[in-house]
Amino acid sequence: MASYDSVLARLARVGQEHLLRFYETLSPAHKAQLLGQISELDLESLPGLIERYIKSPAASAPPTDIEPVDAYPHDAGDRRKPWDRARYRKLGEDLLRAGKVAAFMVAGGQGSRLGYDGPKGCFRAGEVSRRSLFEFFALGLLGAQRRYGRVVPWYIMTSPQNHGSTIAYFQEHKSFGLDPASIMFFQQGMLPSLDLSTGKVLLARPYEVATNPDGHGGSIAALSKSGAIDDMVHRGIEHLSYFQVDNPLVRTVDPAFLGLHAGAPDSSGEMSSKMIPKVSPEEKVGVFAMVRREGRRSLDVIEYSDFPPALAKETTPDGKLRFNAGSIAVHTLGVPFLRKLASDPGFELPYHRAEKKIPHVDLATGEIVQPQKNNGLKLEKFIFDAIPMCRASIVLETDRIEEFAPIKNATGVDSAESCAAIQSERAARWLESLGVRVPRRSDGSVDAVLEIDPSHGDSPEDLRDRVRGLQVAPGARLVI
Ligand code: UD1
Repeated sequence: MASYDSVLARLARVGQEHLLRFYETLSPAHKAQLLGQISELDLESLPGLIERYIKSPAASAPPTDIEPVDAYPHDAGDRRKPWDRARYRKLGEDLLRAGKVAAFMVAGGQGSRLGYDGPKGCFRAGEVSRRSLFEFFALGLLGAQRRYGRVVPWYIMTSPQNHGSTIAYFQEHKSFGLDPASIMFFQQGMLPSLDLSTGKVLLARPYEVATNPDGHGGSIAALSKSGAIDDMVHRGIEHLSYFQVDNPLVRTVDPAFLGLHAGAPDSSGEMSSKMIPKVSPEEKVGVFAMVRREGRRSLDVIEYSDFPPALAKETTPDGKLRFNAGSIAVHTLGVPFLRKLASDPGFELPYHRAEKKIPHVDLATGEIVQPQKNNGLKLEKFIFDAIPMCRASIVLETDRIEEFAPIKNATGVDSAESCAAIQSERAARWLESLGVRVPRRSDGSVDAVLEIDPSHGDSPEDLRDRVRGLQVAPGARLVI
């Protein structure tokens, strides 16, 4: 382990020696913990980051040359950009049957908005079944494995803050019936959290540096460092179905989307995305747009916090939002593309600033301070910043009720409650399309709590035999 003197020398070179302010007062175990933690940090990049993101942050200039994206429409017959759904679905199914597809879930976030203590994936997503988010995804993958007769390996990115508890949860639930050998957990990187005005790294405790996960953009380096990319190559995986831990309606693998990604004439097979039409200019979703930078026009996602409000409000002559392509954070990633990025020494995703209230040790008193206003800066990378690095990248429109009901907040929009309502609506639509009567209230909402077991299929057709003769009574609570 690194010695006190060598750690102090490294800290002094980057002006962060205050991190050892309380060293002499610590127990031997805490001394070792602190030295070990600091040794792991990339201290050498700090001066550059502090200069760029604290001392002279470039005002994030909104893009000036920006156009809406030309997405593949949900209705494949739509004359704007017709496409052959059956053909691409078949192509995606062939990839699945050939064992060339894996799932990749990012679950390293802190879930602070939900206020849930524990890995977010353990949070309940099934209003009737009480199943967790993790179980929903596992069942989706089990169903796909049964349908396509091949294992779909599952790569799960955690962070040091939830890695152990995530693995313990999977073990406790026997991986929900999946083969544990086909699930690989790996940890993303952590970055020191910085004082917003001085750039000094904050101490969370006298023996612990305050750190934060480096954003899902950190996954590209983490996939490589952990050996996950080598594992994919070894297994013959060519495409990754990427999703976030918060959306239980996601199709863990979607053949038509995979097929478009791998085979559409305007796709490079590097990184593709799904979008839904935004409901309002203010909706908190990233927006796909074509942006020209340094003479090159490419697809980009502009995060909701950075999207110029005036542009967000612009409408087309038929009254729709002009920039309506909301990101549901579902992508397909080509494994060769990831390998190329990860092995390129010049590859770097930009950092995004997030100003936060970060509890920290007062260096004068040693007391823990709970700030009332933003005092700290977290830097994060976003995976979608890799999209402009693609030779070409496509977007597929999907239906909100079919695929997007994230659980992000404790109440209201994007909460467990709104998610349950959307799940009931989706189940009702599927049942009604199969001729089952579903009770609805006078305002059209479903008068029942309905949930679909994701292992049973990803379209109404898959449920046909199961629901024959089904009766749904008003107020019923059913898992189908
Ligand atoms: C995210 C997208 C947004 C999209 C929306 C759709 C970002 C920055 N924005 O918003 O464009 O429209 O979802 O629901 O992602 N995570 C990690 N490690 C980290 C940080 C996050 O694994 O260091 C994971 C989280 O566990 C979660 C996901 O990334 O699964 C999203 O993170 P979050 O920061 O909550 O993004 P949103 O604001 O929800």
